Amino acid sequence: MNKNIKILAISGSLRQKSSNSALMNAIIALALENMEFTIYSGLGDLPHFNPDIDINEGPAPVVELRTQLKEADGVLICTPEYGNGVPGVLKNALDWIVSSGEFVNKPTAVISASPSPMGGDKAHASLLLTLKMISAEIVEKGTMMIPYITLKLNKEGVITDAETKRELLVVIRALEQAASI
Ligand code: FNR
Repeated sequence: MNKNIKILAISGSLRQKSSNSALMNAIIALALENMEFTIYSGLGDLPHFNPDIDINEGPAPVVELRTQLKEADGVLICTPEYGNGVPGVLKNALDWIVSSGEFVNKPTAVISASPSPMGGDKAHASLLLTLKMISAEIVEKGTMMIPYITLKLNKEGVITDAETKRELLVVIRALEQAASI
């Protein structure tokens, strides 16, 4: 039997009613049986990145993030765009990983979703730049920008748009393949 593939799922939004967090849960519901997801819930607890306090193993929330990344075979990120960029909380989390290296060669799928017609394209592009800088393996066919997210995900968090669902399945399969190697 194939071993379970561990995926750390990170939403770039702290909002309780976040469409990206709802989307992440919908993706998890669609995923293959051998994929085991952990939802990272510590984004809002991380201190502001400051190399001066990154001493010994680092602050406890940072240790937790680094440990969860280390234990994961792959990462799924779903993020909104704020002010034409990556949400500060998500960028802050990645800044903590630059020197410790847990993203090196980590298969990573990247999705941005926005109510706008652009699908969070600027955040998406900027996030890829940062992930490449920290040597994450951006999964081929594992990236997607979703415009008009509010029209594609209903209040129950179910993906109602067939094309979006089909494209998400491609992303999930690609992540599963990359993370199982
Ligand atoms: C936004 N939003 C937004 N959307 C976008 O596509 N590009 C952007 O630059 C911004 N900037 C922005 C700034 C501020 C201050 C707010 C409050 C909102 C809209 C944003 O995509 C929308 O609120 C999403 O619903 C946020 O994602 P979650 O929390 O639903 O996942």
